[in-house]
Amino acid sequence: MARSILILFALSFLVFACTGKAATRSSLQEGQRLYLVHCSSCHGTSADGKGPASASLAEPPRDIIKLREEGKLNKDSLVRSILDGLPGTGMPPYSDSITTEEAGWIAEYLLRMNRAENGAPD
Ligand code: HEC
Repeated sequence: MARSILILFALSFLVFACTGKAATRSSLQEGQRLYLVHCSSCHGTSADGKGPASASLAEPPRDIIKLREEGKLNKDSLVRSILDGLPGTGMPPYSDSITTEEAGWIAEYLLRMNRAENGAPD
């Protein structure tokens, strides 16, 4: 009896672990989708700052992956920039159209974007 309860616990943990992973994967994909809809026009599909609309900006966006590699971005700073924008630059605030949770998904995606894999999350 005790043994079967133990097996039941192990099984439910396994199911929990698997679905937990699936949710992470799908929120990264949702982050990518939102990035492509809202951000890539300026920042480019690979976040190099060379999107089609960047040429019309007085100050073109910097390379987000380079900023990431230099340690200048983290999840909190990204969520802040997305929701509040960057006053004095062409970076608009998104708090009217993107929720804090969605901004978190975009941030996670940018922190894990794999440029070599055509922008797929790592
Ligand atoms: C209209 C063009 C435009 C759009 C659309 C846009 N940005 Fe920006 N973004 C800029 C400009 C201009 C800057 C300022 C230059 C810089 O810091 O790279 C900037 C800066 C940034 C930075 C770097 C600076 C920092 O401190 O965080 C990040 C990250 C960023 N944007 C993310 C995003 C994300 C994510 C989206 C979509 C939700 C987005 N941007 C949409 C133009 C845009």
